[in-house]
Amino acid sequence: MKNIVSPSILSADFANLERDIKRVKDAGAQWLHIDVMDGHFVPNITIGVPVVASIRKITDLFLDVHLMIENPKDYIEPFVKAGADIITFHYEAVEPESISELIEYIKSFNIKVGMSIKPKTSVEVLYPYLNELDMVLIMTVEPGFGGQKFMEDCAEKIIPLKSRGSEDLIIQVDGGINADTARICTSYGANSLVSGNYIYKADDLNSAVKSLF
Ligand code: DX5
Ligand code: ZN
Repeated sequence: MKNIVSPSILSADFANLERDIKRVKDAGAQWLHIDVMDGHFVPNITIGVPVVASIRKITDLFLDVHLMIENPKDYIEPFVKAGADIITFHYEAVEPESISELIEYIKSFNIKVGMSIKPKTSVEVLYPYLNELDMVLIMTVEPGFGGQKFMEDCAEKIIPLKSRGSEDLIIQVDGGINADTARICTSYGANSLVSGNYIYKADDLNSAVKSLF
C-alpha cells in the first residue's frame, strides 16, 4: 500500500498558500499537515483556526492538524468547525488521567485522533492508548521548527508500535523527513510521512513528493 504523504505547509510560502497547496495535491499527496504552535508548548507561533478555515475552502485534501499547544481540549471544537479531518495532540500537553477522555472527546466529533510524543518521551507511554487512537505521531525532531535534522534513534520507537498496534493504526513520523530518512522510517513500519522543507524547498516539488510514496 502507498504511504500517506502529508506535506507540512510550515515550509510553504504563506503569501501563496493556495498555490502551494495545489502543488502538493497535484503531485499526489493525500493529506496536508498543519502545524499549530502557541509559543508556550513550543517556542514558536504559527497557524491558528482562521487559517485552517480558509484552507478548508480551497482544498479537499485531508487536513492533518498537529497541535503543539497547551490545553489542547479548549481548541478541539474550533479546529473541528474550521475543517480538521484528524487532530493530533501531544502526550506532554495533557495530564495522564485526562488522555482517554480527550481521545473520546475528539472522536465524538466524528473525526480521527492522533497522539504524539516528543523525542525525549518514551514510546511506552503510548501503549495503553493504541486501541483508542487512529494514529500515533513520532516526532523525529524537537517540535517547534521546520528544517531540522532527523533523529534516527527516535525513529526506532516505531518498531514496538508496529508489533503492538492493530493493522489499521497509522504510524506517522514528523521532522527531517526526506527520501532517505523516509525509507528508514517505513522499514520500521511507518506509513504516514510528514515533510516540510524537503518538499517545499526542493527544485522539483513533484519528484520530492513522489519519492515519499
Ligand atoms: C516541527 C513540525 C513539523 C515541521 C517539519 O515541529 O511539527 O511538521 O514542519 O518540517 P521538516 O520536514 O522541514 O523537518
Ligand atoms: Zn508537525
